[in-house]
Amino acid sequence: MADNVQVNYNGKILECPVTVGTEGEKAFDIAKLRSQTGLITLDPGFSNTGSCKSAITYIDGEKGILRYRGIPIEQLAEHSTFVETAFLLIYGKLPNHGELEAFSAAFNEHSMIHEDMKNFFDAYPASTHPMASLSAMVCALSAYYPELIKENPNQKEMDRIAVQLLSKVRTICAFSYKKTIGEPFVYPRYDLHYVPNFLNMMFSSPTHPYKLVDEVVRALQVLLILHADHEQNCSTSTVRLVGSSRANLYASISAGICALWGPLHGGANQAVIEMLEGIQRDGGDVAKYITRAKDKNDHSRLMGFGHRVYKNFDPRAKIIKKCADDLLNKLGIHDPLLDLAKHMEDAALKDEYFISRKLYPNVDFYSGIIYRAVGIPLNMFPVMFAIGRMPGWIAHWKEMIQDPTNKIGRPFQIYVGAKMTDYVQLEQR
Ligand code: CMC
Repeated sequence: MADNVQVNYNGKILECPVTVGTEGEKAFDIAKLRSQTGLITLDPGFSNTGSCKSAITYIDGEKGILRYRGIPIEQLAEHSTFVETAFLLIYGKLPNHGELEAFSAAFNEHSMIHEDMKNFFDAYPASTHPMASLSAMVCALSAYYPELIKENPNQKEMDRIAVQLLSKVRTICAFSYKKTIGEPFVYPRYDLHYVPNFLNMMFSSPTHPYKLVDEVVRALQVLLILHADHEQNCSTSTVRLVGSSRANLYASISAGICALWGPLHGGANQAVIEMLEGIQRDGGDVAKYITRAKDKNDHSRLMGFGHRVYKNFDPRAKIIKKCADDLLNKLGIHDPLLDLAKHMEDAALKDEYFISRKLYPNVDFYSGIIYRAVGIPLNMFPVMFAIGRMPGWIAHWKEMIQDPTNKIGRPFQIYVGAKMTDYVQLEQR
C-alpha cells in the first residue's frame, strides 16, 4: 500500500500521498493543502520543496552521485563530448551516428550571429561584465528570430532553437572577449568541432593563428560536460519559473544567465580565484581566511565550498581537481594558486566547522585553475559555466512546456507588513 502523510490541523486530517521517484527518493504531495486547510507551507530558499518531477538529472547529495539521464557523470566525463552530452540531456537518449552527425552539422550551420548584432558589442562599455552582455544578447536573439518566439514550439522549431542557442552563445562569448581586448572578431569555422571552434574564435588573431592542443580541448570538453545540468539549481529554477509564464526560451535563458551570475552560484568560480589571489597577496595565510569564513560577524565565506545538495564530495569537483593536475602537468605550468587551493582544501577538511556542516569543495573550487591555464580571463569564468549549462536549461524548459500538468510558478508568502491603515493627505503629515 502506498504511504500517506497525515497533516492534522485543528482536528481535521488531510491525507497527503507520498510520491516516489525512480531512485526511491520520496516527497509528500501537498497539492490540496491550501484548499483543504487554509494553510500554506513556509520554506525560505526552498530547502525542503520539490518544484516539479523531472526525468533529466539525478543527484544523491549524501552519496555524491550525479547522473544525466541515468548515466554517471564520471562515464560521460571520460568518454563523451559536450555536443553528445547536450543531445543526451535535450532528447533523453544517446544519439546514434546519424543523429550525432546531423546535430553537429546543425551547430556549424547556426554558429554565426546576425551581422547587425555586432553593433551590440560597440554599444557596451569595455568594462561591461560579459554575463551582462551575454544575458542581453541571448534575449536579443529573439528579435532576430521572431518566427521562433513560441510558447510551445513544434519539434522542428524546438530542434532549431536549441541548436541555435547552443551554437550562437559560444560565438557571442568569444566575440565579447575579442571586443574587450580590441581585436577583430574571429568567425566560427565549419571544419572545427564545438570546443576547438570556441578556442579558435577566442584566441586566434590575424597575426597569430591559435594552435589547438588536444589536452586543452579535452579539459574544456570535460568542464562543459560537468556543468551541463544540475537539476533544480537557482538558474535552472529561474529558467523554469520564467518559462512557466509561457515566456519564450530566449527570454527564459536570459533570466537564467542573470541568476547564474551571482557569487553563490555560477559566479563562484570567479570568486574563488579572486579569493585565492587575495590570500596570495596577503602572504598566503590560509588559516586566517578559514577563520574569517567561520566568523558569523564576517560576511566572507570560503568560496567554492559547500552545496545545498551535496553533503559529501561533489563528484564534479573530484573530476575537475584531477583534470587540473593533469592539464597543468601536461602543459608544464606551475600555478601557485593550485597549491594554495589544495592547502586550503586540506585545512578546511580537517576543521571541525567544515566537518560538522559537511562542507566540501564544489564544482567551482578547481575549475578556475583550468580556465586560467587555458588563458580564459577571470571575468569570463561564469560565462564558461553559462555555455556549459545551456543544454540543461534547454532540456528543462522543453520538459516543462511539454508537461500538460505544468502550471505558472507562483509561490505564496506570509505577509508581515503594516495592518490596514488609512491614507493621510500630504499636508497633514
Ligand atoms: N564557507 C563558510 N561557511 C559556510 C559555507 C562556506 N562556503 N557554506 C555554508 N556555510 C555554513 C553556513 O554559514 C551555515 O552555517 P550555520 O549552520 O552555522 O548557520 C551552514 O554552513 C549551512 O549553510 P547554508 O548557507 O544554510 O547552506 P545553503 O545550502 O543555503 O548554501 C551555498 C549553499 C552553496 C550557497 C553555500 O554553501 C555557499 O555560499 N558556498 C560558497 C559559494 C559557492 O561556492 N557557491 C557555488 C555552489 S556550486 C555551483 C552551483 O551553484 O551549482
